[in-house]
Amino acid sequence: MLTDNRPTSGDRFRELIRSITGISLPPSKVQMIDQRLRRRVVAFDLPDTETFLQKLLGGELPGDELRNVIDLITTNTTSFFREADHFDFLAQDVVPTVVAETRAGRRPRLKIWSAAASEGAEAYTAAMVLEERKRAGVAFDYAILGTDISQRMLERATAAIYGNDQLTTVPADLQRRYFLSSAHPSMSGKSRIVPELRQRVKFRHLNLMDDSYPVDRDVDLIFLRNVLIYFEPADKERVVQRLATHLRPGGWLLVGHAESMVVRHDGLQQVKPTIFRRVRA
Ligand SMILES: C[S@@+](CC[C@H](N)C(=O)[O-])C[C@H]1O[C@@H](n2cnc3c(N)ncnc32)[C@H](O)[C@@H]1O
Repeated sequence: MLTDNRPTSGDRFRELIRSITGISLPPSKVQMIDQRLRRRVVAFDLPDTETFLQKLLGGELPGDELRNVIDLITTNTTSFFREADHFDFLAQDVVPTVVAETRAGRRPRLKIWSAAASEGAEAYTAAMVLEERKRAGVAFDYAILGTDISQRMLERATAAIYGNDQLTTVPADLQRRYFLSSAHPSMSGKSRIVPELRQRVKFRHLNLMDDSYPVDRDVDLIFLRNVLIYFEPADKERVVQRLATHLRPGGWLLVGHAESMVVRHDGLQQVKPTIFRRVRA
């Protein structure tokens, strides 16, 4: 009996999304994504989503169309102090270790990378936690980089304006110190991160599926949380391999609580269920 092994249009559709973003769609989600992209298909007067994606990959659509697709298909859920034990680890383990390991006469400096930053809550939570250590008298500097594939999220992260309902997970004293409200009507019900924190945190576009990342190779700590869950095993592994080369020896990789099983790398040692440390050379 002959079997037809040709991929269905649903298979091709899923593979196209995966090749652009790394995001692996179970067959059950194809319809949902199809619906999310429908208005882009209509905007170009095309017969179906697959034709739309083929044209997109073939460079036949305007250059900024990819951005619309990515904004529509990514899941950007995030919150301040999400998986809070990671921020306790940053304050109680990472900061003292970096300070203790800095050579006498030098000012300790921490480099942090939020590698799927969404609208910035993870990066700004790290900034608040580090500012608190400085307020407590620990002398050090820090810089935080946030990257994401979604331009819309990066714009939000850079603006650093959040609905007050998003601040419920931020302790009240930190809300007072690190968020500003304004009487301007456009800021009604919203607050903005203070300039002192905003200047420490920079955001940039980066696709984790790219072959290389234009980021420093002496990062102290990388947050890679709640993004690998969307990737296929081979892509997860490649992303972890590439990211590990950006950690300084002794630097930490933090993954989401549903993701620890995916980190299998000779150069990374598991120190807690979701925390890995780059082995020293
Ligand atoms: C669920 S959010 C997680 C945000 C934050 N790390 C957290 O744990 O709260 C996942 C983010 O990963 C981003 N993302 C998905 N695929 C990506 C890729 N290939 N490269 C970079 N970012 C990606 C999405 O745009 C989204 O903002």
